[in-house]
Amino acid sequence: MIIKKVMVIGAGQMGSGIAQVCAMNGYDVTLHDLKAEFVERGITGIRKQLKRQVDKGRITNDEMETFLSRISTSVELKNAENVDIVIEAAVENMEVKKNLFAQLDEFAPEHAILATNTSSLPITEIAAVTKRPEKVIGMHFMNPVPVMKLVEIIRGLATSEDVFISVKNMAESLKKIAVEVNDFPGFVSNRILMPMINEAIYTVYEGVASPKDVDEVMRLGMNHPMGPLTLADFIGLDTCLYIMETLHEGFGDDKYRPCPLLRKYVKAGWLGKKSGRGFYTYE
Ligand code: NAI
Repeated sequence: MIIKKVMVIGAGQMGSGIAQVCAMNGYDVTLHDLKAEFVERGITGIRKQLKRQVDKGRITNDEMETFLSRISTSVELKNAENVDIVIEAAVENMEVKKNLFAQLDEFAPEHAILATNTSSLPITEIAAVTKRPEKVIGMHFMNPVPVMKLVEIIRGLATSEDVFISVKNMAESLKKIAVEVNDFPGFVSNRILMPMINEAIYTVYEGVASPKDVDEVMRLGMNHPMGPLTLADFIGLDTCLYIMETLHEGFGDDKYRPCPLLRKYVKAGWLGKKSGRGFYTYE
């Protein structure tokens, strides 16, 4: 299957990154969100990111304008009517994703692949709300998308081999390395990463050390490029909580119980870097 036109749902951190990388590699992209101002915020972020690359001499100003010209905006899901693939990157919530996939199934052409960038939710369950489960697949990019090389590709129970190969080829065309993983809660990346982040939050909650010191231990002692709490702020604490809840529900084991301090921060609206405050504060 030839993929040329991409629709990205959700113009947040991940959706804008995915749209940018697709546009930089020759795809026509429609970036969609609930409100025009959200899409505009995404486009502004992409422009800023590209401008930084111009300043560093990695791309020219003309290239930046060409990439931006490949991205159109949308607040109507019916704009999926002429795309070859939809990559959904809305919030990490099963009801939201099911609702979106049921609607996308109505609007997207029959041949179109419906992919989700979910961090942890079962692909098979999302696929089941559509009449094309063989065309539903997980395409899990890492944050920040323009920088990180990995894409986890997750087949649902019914995903066809053709769709898997098309999506793997697309990931490679975006200069990413695709790794195939099975459809289990958290896949590989977040099954391993998130319990570590949750444990780091527990060490703060239990007064073992301050966020800064927890991060220092992991950075200087374990050679992690950034500490787990800095990373949690970067991912978004709401997303971290959703993922822990998915692991807890999916495996039923107490070791996945989200730390109460994580819940408290999310309730306070302290979502990390994107809201200006999490374990650290941001300008
Ligand atoms: P975000 O909070 O930055 O952006 C989410 C965007 O989706 C917002 O702009 C919101 O308005 C929009 N949205 C919400 N409901 C919508 C709907 N019904 N229709 C259209 N747009 C809708 O979140 P982020 O970090 O970009 O995460 C998005 C997805 O990517 C989640 O599933 C998350 O688990 C996954 N992900 C996140 C990573 C991270 O490091 N933050 C890494 C890999 C995957």
